[in-house]
Amino acid sequence: MSELKLTSKPVTKPAEPEYLKWNRNPAKPTIKLEQSMYAKNPFWQNQLRCDREQWIAHLVKTNGWKNGAELGMWKGRTFLFLLSQCPDLTLIGVDLWAPQPDNTGLETYESWDHVGFENNVRKQAEKFGDRAIIVKGWTVEAANDVEDNSLDFVFVDADHSTEAVYNDIKAWWPKVKDTGWIIGHDINWPIVKVVADELLPGYVIGPDNAWGRAKCPK
Ligand SMILES: C[S@@+](CC[C@H](N)C(=O)[O-])C[C@H]1O[C@@H](n2cnc3c(N)ncnc32)[C@H](O)[C@@H]1O
Repeated sequence: MSELKLTSKPVTKPAEPEYLKWNRNPAKPTIKLEQSMYAKNPFWQNQLRCDREQWIAHLVKTNGWKNGAELGMWKGRTFLFLLSQCPDLTLIGVDLWAPQPDNTGLETYESWDHVGFENNVRKQAEKFGDRAIIVKGWTVEAANDVEDNSLDFVFVDADHSTEAVYNDIKAWWPKVKDTGWIIGHDINWPIVKVVADELLPGYVIGPDNAWGRAKCPK
């Protein structure tokens, strides 16, 4: 299995004041068209208005993926959509569904209706039976309970701070098969982009600022 390689020192803790300022003030979209999925694949040139969940469902179906994970489920928008559209997919979903008052990044999740979101996901996921595996907890810790080399993809969409995105990719990297993909959201945020640029250069950009790359490009 290939190893996660870094070309420079990983960011593990906000070290400089600028970093914190950056975290709290994500700039507006800076997508380069030539790097986007639309530019590379004629199919997507006609799908400019589709959403991230449709793009991921397309990837799941065309690649015949059977096992995946979503980090950060929120109200279940992507989680429930993927399960409804991809009948052969078993999906792990991880969310803390709790305020994070000590989070030094962009969001402390203190005004979110976590109870309502969690209840909604759990209720709506019942119809998918064993295909929906819901884990309430920290994304990095949840990785410990997942077998290495068992997933076709992971969708990284929990805490968007640079440190957290880095840690999520690092923790979940071994879980994804060498034939699988690492996918994420909000590549238009520089705090996310810096990690994708570092760890997964050559990624494609899909709709709604989703991004992704084969773990081991051919
Ligand atoms: C942007 S929302 C996820 C949106 C969702 N992926 C979708 O497509 O609908 C982020 C979610 O991540 C959760 N979250 C943030 N940091 C987390 C962490 N470190 N561990 C687990 N969940 C986390 C939050 O509770 C929130 O529900």
